[in-house]
Amino acid sequence: MHGVFITGTSTNVGKTFTGVNLARQLTRLGITVIPRKPIESGCEEENGQLIPEDALALHRAANYSGSLADVCPFRFQAPISPVRAAHLGNRIFTTEQMVNICLKGSEEGFLLVEGAGGFYSPLAENGLNADLAIALQLPVLLVVNDTLGALNQVLLNVEAIQRRGLKLAGVILNRLDNDPAGKMDNAADLRGHIDCPIYPQAYCEATTVDLPDALIHSLIPDSLSTDSLSTANSLTAATTTVKAATIKAAS
Ligand SMILES: Nc1ncnc2c1ncn2[C@@H]1O[C@H](COP(=O)(O)OP(=O)(O)OP(=O)(O)O)[C@@H](O)[C@H]1O
Ligand SMILES: [Mg+2]
Repeated sequence: MHGVFITGTSTNVGKTFTGVNLARQLTRLGITVIPRKPIESGCEEENGQLIPEDALALHRAANYSGSLADVCPFRFQAPISPVRAAHLGNRIFTTEQMVNICLKGSEEGFLLVEGAGGFYSPLAENGLNADLAIALQLPVLLVVNDTLGALNQVLLNVEAIQRRGLKLAGVILNRLDNDPAGKMDNAADLRGHIDCPIYPQAYCEATTVDLPDALIHSLIPDSLSTDSLSTANSLTAATTTVKAATIKAAS
């Protein structure tokens, strides 16, 4: 299966922002993107329906032919963890249900899954976000707020992702505000500790931004490549090879 599991060091760090731009760019390259956000809390009610904002944004960015219910069937109003929100509604969901939602209809395309919260946030009654990523065996893209404290958060998450035997597609160091970074340089500091691609993402007012070509190409398997893909991009083959992420042994 081809795709990516987008997780974060926490909530509100830019998972959807990243997923939307990824979906848009892949779609532009002629790749069929299958977006999934299997459970979403904090949904506003409109005309008697709960609207999952993240799922809707991913659905639109991927120009997805399936329904919004395929993307996100489990929706809750309370802006709390999905498992607790489900409990408040007297519902219980399992990791297996989340897996089925992600897999159903995903055969023909690139499966783009956004979790809820962070890698170790509970997603279902019997599992964490990590368990869904493992069941799907997708490479993980880690999004972090590029601020003071990010180094610790990234290293903890990278260790967790690797301990679970998953491939780390990269780390998005996402600037959530326009404040000057000063002397802080998290990308440079992280490169001394981890051996995976690190993609700094500047703060931007616009919701659409082009993510780095190297990231896009590292996620695209040969079997999904199209002629339009090769002509639309003049990347070297070298950018398609991403080293398996490993925490460098402390010297
Ligand atoms: N690089 C950026 N520049 C400007 N604004 C950003 C950037 N990244 C994210 N944002 C904004 O920050 C907010 C949080 O981002 P986003 O919704 O993508 O986070 P999330 O991790 O998906 O949150 P959740 O845990 O609720 O799903 C959004 O308003 C988003 O538009
Ligand atoms: Mg989100």
